[in-house]
Amino acid sequence: MTDARTLFSKALVLAPMTKGSNLPYRRLCRELGADVTVGEMALARHVAQKKRAELALLRTHPTDHPFGAQLADRHDATLDVAAKVAAERGADFVDLNCGCPIDEFTRKGLGAALLQHPAKFARLVATLRKAVSLPITVKLRLGWNDDTKNFLELARLAVDAGADAITLHGRTREQRYSKAADWDAIAALKASVDVPVIGNGDLLTWWEIDERWTKSGVDAVMISRGALIKPWIFQEAKEKRTIHKTGAERLAILRRYVELAREHFGTDDHATVRIRMFLVWHLAFFCRYRHLPDATYRQDAWSHPLLQTRLPDPPPITDGLEGLLARVDKAAHEHVAAIALGEVAEDAPHPPLPESTREAVVEAEAKG
Ligand SMILES: Cc1cc2nc3c(=O)[nH]c(=O)nc-3n(C[C@H](O)[C@H](O)[C@H](O)COP(=O)(O)O)c2cc1C
Repeated sequence: MTDARTLFSKALVLAPMTKGSNLPYRRLCRELGADVTVGEMALARHVAQKKRAELALLRTHPTDHPFGAQLADRHDATLDVAAKVAAERGADFVDLNCGCPIDEFTRKGLGAALLQHPAKFARLVATLRKAVSLPITVKLRLGWNDDTKNFLELARLAVDAGADAITLHGRTREQRYSKAADWDAIAALKASVDVPVIGNGDLLTWWEIDERWTKSGVDAVMISRGALIKPWIFQEAKEKRTIHKTGAERLAILRRYVELAREHFGTDDHATVRIRMFLVWHLAFFCRYRHLPDATYRQDAWSHPLLQTRLPDPPPITDGLEGLLARVDKAAHEHVAAIALGEVAEDAPHPPLPESTREAVVEAEAKG
């Protein structure tokens, strides 16, 4: 068993993401430089009931370590059972979700709802501590809203209850993604606890990672949307350079994802339906990739994070593989998925552009 200090020392962590941090994608990110991964949020109650779909979220692979299983719950008994199941199934640490902002979950007292109930939160951390000998982490937000930013209090309670590391996403529940993540708050947390701190929010380029990491002094950084847009962000961070990948190179990454997904889901028709569903889902992020040369963007990114700023949209590219991969419409995503699955030739005619994109192209061409 690896302790939390070793796990999170200078680590690049792939964030827990429902749908996004599926096992094949975690393995892909690891091949591209991620040091630690966290799985999709699993509902502890369903894990304790041994529901197949929930147990599947805890699956790992010999190449996918260190791996953290993320659990959401508000009841001690089911959390206790679920943590033990996660440990039996190979998790290297167990994370408590205290950040999920979605009404469906917060109404049931899960995720970010725990931010409003410090005593219950502390009890749940203590339950995890007793349940397993693995490191325990909690993933916090700043608080529920601007008036109740209680992350320092919650972090202290978590450490007292036995948490081994704290992740902080630098936003409140009410902010969702509307404001930039507050890295000063993340630095304040690092200064106030003596367990490893993992900073999270708005990291899209190697220089944002480098500057925010150095300035805040955190032990590790966690990347979510940036890793969905360009999974090689981990390699960029390690090598401290921007790596522009051509359309052909990006397609090769998608093909590698298909290989890993086939190992996980299988190769029959049922598996192919699932892999296609995941591919199309991933393409909604993957298509947002833009080459961001340091010279043009680095200064701006420091005053305002690039993930937060709506980047000026380049004129729509309509030709070639680059054009196809930049398209945001579902027909294009299904076409790219079919290419990655080997069902359609790379040079097959692209599906027609939707009306809205055609109008944008005409407008851009008119402007020269
Ligand atoms: C598609 C998606 C799914 C997410 N699912 C989870 C989740 O299951 N558990 C969790 O703690 N956070 C989840 N998050 C939040 C991220 O882990 C992360 O805290 C947030 O996106 C901020 O990081 P970023 O600015 O790098 O995207 C999700 C985010 C995205 C984009």
